[in-house]
Amino acid sequence: MAGHVLVRALSGGRLVRSACRRWGELSANNEVKCLPFRSYSLLDEGSQTNHGVGGSEFVAPRSDPADASTPRHIPVMAEEVLEFLAPRDGSVILDMTFGGGGHSRRLLAANPGVRLVCLDRDPLAHRLALALQEEHPRRVLPLLGRFSELPTLLTRLKIKRGYFDGVLMDLGVSSMQFGTAERGFMLSQDGPLDMRMDGGRQPEQITAADVLAHIDENSLYKVLKFYGEEKNARLLSRGLVESRHMFQRLDTTRGLATLVSSLLDDTTRTDKLGRHAHPATKTFQALRILVNNELNELDYAMRLAQYYLRPQGVLVAISFHSLEDTIVKRHLQGVDMDHTPATIGLGVAKHRTALSTYTKAEIDSITAKAWKQLTKHVVLPSDEEVASNPRARSAKLRPALRL
Ligand SMILES: C[S@@+](CC[C@H](N)C(=O)[O-])C[C@H]1O[C@@H](n2cnc3c(N)ncnc32)[C@H](O)[C@@H]1O
Repeated sequence: MAGHVLVRALSGGRLVRSACRRWGELSANNEVKCLPFRSYSLLDEGSQTNHGVGGSEFVAPRSDPADASTPRHIPVMAEEVLEFLAPRDGSVILDMTFGGGGHSRRLLAANPGVRLVCLDRDPLAHRLALALQEEHPRRVLPLLGRFSELPTLLTRLKIKRGYFDGVLMDLGVSSMQFGTAERGFMLSQDGPLDMRMDGGRQPEQITAADVLAHIDENSLYKVLKFYGEEKNARLLSRGLVESRHMFQRLDTTRGLATLVSSLLDDTTRTDKLGRHAHPATKTFQALRILVNNELNELDYAMRLAQYYLRPQGVLVAISFHSLEDTIVKRHLQGVDMDHTPATIGLGVAKHRTALSTYTKAEIDSITAKAWKQLTKHVVLPSDEEVASNPRARSAKLRPALRL
């Protein structure tokens, strides 16, 4: 069982850290013990991975990708991805979020001289990547792991800094994950309250049910407020924690959805298309982000993209909610969310005193730009695409050149 789960939430434009307490070890004074953010090193040999490159030793996924009942994933903004990555003869592209392989297939079809390294943390997606490798043995290399495991996987392959011509991140969950009740992401169908993108690959990873069984009220409030942007976070966190006295364990998606609805007594929420949205949508989003440590993974992935792209290589990042987009945008703008002093970037002339405490080399390294954004504004899907694939409605694509 994981010792702790870090909650690193966006608050007021800054990243703040807090921590859920140790699971199963709740202290009497209701204190949340803060644990240090795990700072991954770029070539961290110590990163945990159970699975080798293109390995076959993963835990078998419970749903079968070849099964007609497993939902198919339609790639979002595929034309734009091709336009910006512009695959050429000899290009090597890292697809960090292989999913159903829709973008990868389009890239392979765009130019017969392109090769791909295809990462995903989900064993089911990895199986699809292995199948694609069978179709294109010399052009596809599947990797099973999280963004944070990528340096270990690439080091084994002797892949070094600046190797890739393009990097693609199509964030969030795939339709295969979201639309399969037994994965526990779904509001509309009952299933176990799981939400682990990794499936059973890492048995120590906590599920959403584990979170709800052990988290203290204040940590849950922060999770719902910052990860779910839930305006009723206080009410909900109290109600969910109090429900432990009434239920044996909240461990089904329907159980959680019903309880949140009854606590909110709020049936008027709508999504971006004006469609009725379930009152528990934001609660599900918050728990999913926490269980999969999604924002820390993304923050790290942006550093990896910078490290592994060659100069003039292109990054395409597609995000699906504002928390993700903020992290992508800040990296592309050169805002180091951990270390950049607030004074820098606000105008050198005004802040001579603060800046004078830094050496020139430090200032240069802080202010050196790693990225040039390729479009003035974020790229959005066309109305036609949103009409044919509603999942695209919240997509925001940011293309950038590695300087
Ligand atoms: C939206 S889907 C990608 C769909 C894909 N582009 C396609 O066209 O089929 C996102 C995928 O990223 C994977 N993913 C999300 N976070 C990840 C992480 N930290 N490490 C590795 N894979 C991750 C998920 O498992 C999921 O399969």
